[in-house]
Order: sequence, then C-alpha cells, then structure tokens
Amino acid sequence: MNSDQQKQFARYPSLVDRVAFVSGGATGLGKEFVEQLAAQGSRVAFIDIAREKGEALAAQIAERGHPAPLFLPCDVRDVPAVQDAIRQAAERLGPITVLVNNAANDTRHKVSDVDLAMWDDSMAVNVRHHFFAAQAVTDMMRETGGGSIINLGSISAHIDLLDLPGYITAKAGIEGLTRTLARELGPHGIRVNCIIPGWVMTDRQLEQWVTPEAEASIERNQCLPHKLYPDDVARMMLWLAADDSRSCTAQLWVVDGGWM
Ligand SMILES: NC(=O)c1ccc[n+]([C@@H]2O[C@H](COP(=O)([O-])OP(=O)(O)OC[C@H]3O[C@@H](n4cnc5c(N)ncnc54)[C@H](O)[C@@H]3O)[C@@H](O)[C@H]2O)c1
Repeated sequence: MNSDQQKQFARYPSLVDRVAFVSGGATGLGKEFVEQLAAQGSRVAFIDIAREKGEALAAQIAERGHPAPLFLPCDVRDVPAVQDAIRQAAERLGPITVLVNNAANDTRHKVSDVDLAMWDDSMAVNVRHHFFAAQAVTDMMRETGGGSIINLGSISAHIDLLDLPGYITAKAGIEGLTRTLARELGPHGIRVNCIIPGWVMTDRQLEQWVTPEAEASIERNQCLPHKLYPDDVARMMLWLAADDSRSCTAQLWVVDGGWM
C-alpha cells in the first residue's frame, strides 16, 4: 500500500511506541502486519524462517523512516527458540503488549499421505507456538496493565476445503485456544482474539493456488466482488491491537468478503 492509500485509513494513537511481536512476519500477511504496525509508530519485532526476506523487510521499513523493526530468524517449531526470541525482543524494545501469532504452513496434503511425523509437524507449525508465545508474553503484559494477543485462524476450518486435514485441525484448535486464553488472561487486562481471514491474495496464494477455477469459486462464494488483499486483514489486526477495541476479547473476527 502506498502512502496516499495509507492516508485513507485509520490511525491509532494508542499504537504509537507500542511494542509488538509478529511471528511469520517476513512475507504474506505477516509482512503486511509488520509494515502496518511500524507505519502506526509501533516498535515491532518479528520472527521467520525466511532470513533474507526478513532482513530485507526490516531494512526497507527503516529506510521509510518508521521505527526500525527487529528481525530475529527463528523456526516456530522450536519452542525454546520462540521463547528466547520473545525474551530478546522485550530486552531490546521493551515489554511486548501486542502479540500477533501468524506463522503457519498451508502446504496441501492428502489424508493418505499423512504419517505421524507430518501430523506432529503440522501441529507444531500451525498451532503449538501460539500457546507458548502467549504464555511467554503473559507476565510482561500483566505487569504493564494488559495487552492484546491476536491469533490467525482460517476460513478453512468453516468451509469444505480439501487436502488440508492437519492445517484445518490446527486452525480449528486456534479458535478454542483463543477462547480459553481470553478467559484465563482477561482478569489481567489481556485480550485474546482470533482473526479468520477468507481467501487472501498473498504472493504465495497467487503463485500456487489461485487458478481460474479458484477465481470462479471466490466469485461464487463471496458476497463482495473484490478479491481480498493482505491490507484488508491488517486493518482488522490494527484495530484489535489498539485500545479502540479495549472491550473486545474471546471473539472470532471474520474478514472474508462474506464467504462464511
Ligand atoms: N492467505 C490466505 O488466504 C489465508 C487464509 C486464511 C488464513 N490465513 C492465515 O493467515 C496467516 C498468514 O497467512 P499467509 O497466507 O501470509 O501465509 P504464508 O505462507 O504466505 O506466510 C507465512 C509466513 O510464515 C513463515 N513460516 C512458515 N513456517 C515457519 C516456521 N516454521 N517458522 C517461522 N516462520 C515460518 C513463512 O516463511 C512466511 O513468512 C496464517 O496463519 C494463515 O493460516 C491465510
């Protein structure tokens, strides 16, 4: 999104100087989240396995004059490494009060191809780190008077998609995790919400899965005619991160053009 387009959308004074941590922030929706948070004046740390893309993004954002984000290469399947990245980010930027659990892997897989190792890997990359990242920020959020945890679910847990049994199981689990964490952490002022994106036109989706048949399916299923782009989802994320949504927790926020 260029700066003229940016001006048409909301600015959140409460996000200025706020410390945010985003997983899977080097490409796709996560990249947009990192860029949009930095454009609001937040101090952002992000992790990803895509080291070169992460480093390039951090440099680009700093060149634009926004607060320079901190990029830490990290595989979310390695829980101690995620915990360590959160600790490092808090030491360098200050207590984290916005956590966006975004990293995932939606590589297609047939039911018959899934073995035990693949199943466990799918849970590790798609849901397990959500819990441990939330656990790792709880004390700092509580001590600073609260925070906002935003989990990325998926429309796939609500519609009849094929070839993603592990991913969809994990995404359905994230909805339950959101609810239980919101209940447990709410008394400390920590809000926990889940964004459910519809089919969003990231580079990876466009390169791999948005065929003419898929485009026809989008047209048929969405109420709105336009395709969804990462900034559509980022604007929901910003609102949930900001104090404007201070009374909202334990909810699913669907950004799908009216598909579900
Ligand atoms: N794009 C969509 O249409 C769509 C739809 C519904 C839900 N979502 C959800 O939104 C979120 C972002 O989706 P996206 O389309 O941008 O995904 P993506 O695959 O394009 O990007 C995911 C990011 O996570 C990183 N990543 C993957 N495995 C990792 C690992 N083991 N450790 C650290 N980082 C890792 C990737 O390098 C990438 O930068 C995901 O949670 C996804 O499930 C996306």
